[in-house]
Amino acid sequence: MAKPELRFSDGAAYERTMGVWSRLAGDVFLDWLAPEAGLAWVDVGCGNGAFTEAIVARTAPAAVEGVDPSDGQIDFARKRAPGSIAGYRVGDAMALPFPDDHFDAATMALVIFFVPEPATGVAELVRVTRPGGRVAAYVWDMYGAGFPLEPLLAEMRAMGMTPPMPPSMEASRLETLRGLWSAAGLGGIETREITVERTFADFTEFWSTVLGSSFARAFADLDEATRQDLETRVRTRLSPAADGTLTTTAHAFAIQGRVAG
Ligand SMILES: C[S@@+](CC[C@H](N)C(=O)[O-])C[C@H]1O[C@@H](n2cnc3c(N)ncnc32)[C@H](O)[C@@H]1O
Repeated sequence: MAKPELRFSDGAAYERTMGVWSRLAGDVFLDWLAPEAGLAWVDVGCGNGAFTEAIVARTAPAAVEGVDPSDGQIDFARKRAPGSIAGYRVGDAMALPFPDDHFDAATMALVIFFVPEPATGVAELVRVTRPGGRVAAYVWDMYGAGFPLEPLLAEMRAMGMTPPMPPSMEASRLETLRGLWSAAGLGGIETREITVERTFADFTEFWSTVLGSSFARAFADLDEATRQDLETRVRTRLSPAADGTLTTTAHAFAIQGRVAG
């Protein structure tokens, strides 16, 4: 059987599952960056615009460009905030469709571990950012159980399954991020950890985000009994509060640096 891939083709499905997490962590990331108003931003791997529109709403930017290889995500992004100053286009982190020194700030939110060659992606962020400008990213702590759907992944592994994973997982380690930023010539490097929590009305709501995720494809071939077993194991792993609500946490690493010059 072909190895399952994580793909992002549906902006609405992404919104239900990851868009909420993206905003929770993205707001902490933006607060940490504490950017001045009036900057020109590029948001690479903008997906359905969840984080890009946070830049618009929270930083009073002069301009914002979002880039993502997925047509479905870009379609959703273009429609999500009518009147937004953000522009969206299809493109790849490893060959950005912009001239050198074009932006004041470049971000990758939850993206770098999907870029086939992370060092090339960071070099592109540096290329399109002016001297003195900022290059920043954050990524789920995949090796430290920080991914929001870790309870699912843990039970899949326990049942002998191999969950689909991003192609450049190493880039989710803090030390790897530091090495990438440093090798790209960025100065004034700072990092921080981000922990966020999300409360679901009940397990059914949590499970619906699992079914809306790219991981659902990994269940497609399972027989009903195995699928039920997986669901029961995840339910047992999570402890609801007395009122039935369920709170789960996620953990990420963030990094920022300045372009020399
Ligand atoms: C987890 S989503 C993050 C989306 C958005 N930044 C957010 O915070 O909600 C990862 C995104 O990376 C995009 N992506 C995957 N490979 C990419 C590449 N080579 N260049 C740019 N984006 C890529 C996917 O299409 C997807 O939209």
